[in-house]
Amino acid sequence: MFESVQAAPADPILGLTDAFRADPNPNKINLGVGVYQDSNGKTPALKCIQRATQWIAQAKTASSYLPIPGLAEYTAAVQQLAFGESHEVVTEGRAFTAQTPGGTGALRVVGDFLAQNFAGTTLWITDPTWANHANIFTAAGVSLAKLPYFDKATNSLAFGELIEALGKIPAGDAVLLHGCCHNPTGVDPTQEQWSQIADVMYAQKLLPILDFAYQGFGDGIEEDAVGLRTMAREGAELIVCSSFSKNFGLYNQRVGASTFVCADADRAKVVGSQVKRAIRSNYSNPPAHGARLVATVLADEALREEWHTELTRMRNRINGMRVLLVSKLKEKGVEGDFSFIERQRGMFSFSGLTKDQVLALREKHAIYIVDSGRINVAGITEVNVDRLTEAIADVVG
Ligand code: LMR
Repeated sequence: MFESVQAAPADPILGLTDAFRADPNPNKINLGVGVYQDSNGKTPALKCIQRATQWIAQAKTASSYLPIPGLAEYTAAVQQLAFGESHEVVTEGRAFTAQTPGGTGALRVVGDFLAQNFAGTTLWITDPTWANHANIFTAAGVSLAKLPYFDKATNSLAFGELIEALGKIPAGDAVLLHGCCHNPTGVDPTQEQWSQIADVMYAQKLLPILDFAYQGFGDGIEEDAVGLRTMAREGAELIVCSSFSKNFGLYNQRVGASTFVCADADRAKVVGSQVKRAIRSNYSNPPAHGARLVATVLADEALREEWHTELTRMRNRINGMRVLLVSKLKEKGVEGDFSFIERQRGMFSFSGLTKDQVLALREKHAIYIVDSGRINVAGITEVNVDRLTEAIADVVG
């Protein structure tokens, strides 16, 4: 039976982690997968999460099934974190949130929901975008098309082209944007640009879907929510896919959520019933522990404060590494203006390295970055930056 099965290509991001693990070079550097590392190259367990873990262990919670949309205290907290407690989306009860296994699970639930309720709808994704977006929606049976997003010549947002392209999309289609810290480019719209994006999208009757996986990694928890809060105009409908892998350091707990913002509370109930149907036929109901951790931290003022401090520390370290990378590239004699790396936001830098240069870094220097040239800045440390920039100078020069 299985003799007809063809080998699938390795995943462009997680496959790289496998290759990194298999590499015997003691000086290897992994700047592939988007996982935060501290200045010692370790992924820390956040203190707020360690404390919440103890509280939960003491509470001896039962392990019965969660409801299909997950823990109610978690889904309420997700909405408040994304929109702010007093936002009318929250106070009017016009959003339905389902807890999902990570941000990928959130996106897949949305894909299934679109395929089941809007057959024939095309989903527009940014060019470039996270390598897994196309896989997820294609697997759900949603057709895809690409939107211009990034201007290679200036390393900035191709805003004029984006607006023009949005204005030509047929009514009823959906558009997937990144709420903040665009992956892989690190280039986001300004608040004013978000407002113009919202104008065009709602005039065209398009459904915005915002992938929101890096809240707090750009400029701050509130600052990074500006895009989705600008899109969430009164009465507007949109979807937000949240992930807490990075900002709570809960990668392997798979903690995410899909939030369907509807015109009113009655619509939210109807839409929620379809979302529950999509979940039941996929993974039935979500795992509890990670969501309980996030809900515990967000519900307690002291733990929440501690989380803010820890998240700020992660963000500041990444931004510090951006500055160091740019100065080291200059010091090692790599030609060109790399100041754009300091302007990019989030975990990644879209470095402009070509695929051949990326492969040379891997083969000659055991430095692993994604084929697109995306570097995980959170993997750079004071210890590895010299070796990294010398290797870049070698493959570029
Ligand atoms: C990434 O882009 O590296 C992360 O979102 C991890 C993943 O699953 O690809």
